[in-house]
Amino acid sequence: MTQGLWTEVDHYFTDALVARDPALEAALAASDAAGLPAISVAPNEGKLLYLLARLRGARRILEIGTLGGYSTIWLARALPNGGKLITLEYDPRHAEVARANIATAGLADRVEVRVGRALDTLPELARGKPGPFDLTFIDADKRNNAEYFRWALRLSAVGSLIIVDNVVRDGRVVDGASNDANVQGTRRLIEVLAAEPRVSATAVQTVGAKGYDGFALALVVSP
Ligand code: SAH
Ligand code: DHB
Ligand code: MG
Repeated sequence: MTQGLWTEVDHYFTDALVARDPALEAALAASDAAGLPAISVAPNEGKLLYLLARLRGARRILEIGTLGGYSTIWLARALPNGGKLITLEYDPRHAEVARANIATAGLADRVEVRVGRALDTLPELARGKPGPFDLTFIDADKRNNAEYFRWALRLSAVGSLIIVDNVVRDGRVVDGASNDANVQGTRRLIEVLAAEPRVSATAVQTVGAKGYDGFALALVVSP
């Protein structure tokens, strides 16, 4: 069972269950044309994010790691009228492409892209007393995953959901001796999740068009 089959099954599920969406397709095409890396969430994972946001009834969403705004658009589509999504992106070129994609999707009124290193923009965000986020999607540089989780928790309330992408990376996560800062960052995240009594968490391995990876999910259960 290999990559070819994983991709075929992803296409089968996506063709059957994920409606074609011109704005999302345009976002991927524009990101590609601008030379952004093809590392957005897969369509079926985008729809999972959308469904989780709907399930939660999320009115305020935080994203760390925007790229071209593909996952942003999926999440923002789940917002009710008056809902708001703030997404944090380090690279001004990525942010510019994302803003255009978000505008094309008709979501500019409810999405704000903030440019800078997330560890710099998060304290500023917190100082603005944004009110708790119902859902946070962490998908930036993996070396800072544990710190991003701590910020997300601080900006959450009981019932908030925190999702972290790419916690498996071809299984590299089990290599405690790895000198890859991204692996160590994710291992610290898992330690923090394990030790944090305010959340109930799990992590799930996935295969698909984007290879072998996975995500972690934490529910804030106490203040
Ligand atoms: N969530 C996107 C993919 C994000 S890719 C999607 O699924 O569509 C990761 C993004 O994180 C890249 O755009 C990268 O520039 C950004 N990034 C990397 N380091 C960062 C940092 N320190 N702060 C904020 N964003 C960062
Ligand atoms: C990479 C980053 C991602 O967020 C992802 O989903 C896949 C790959 C990367 O940096 O290679
Ligand atoms: Mg990712």
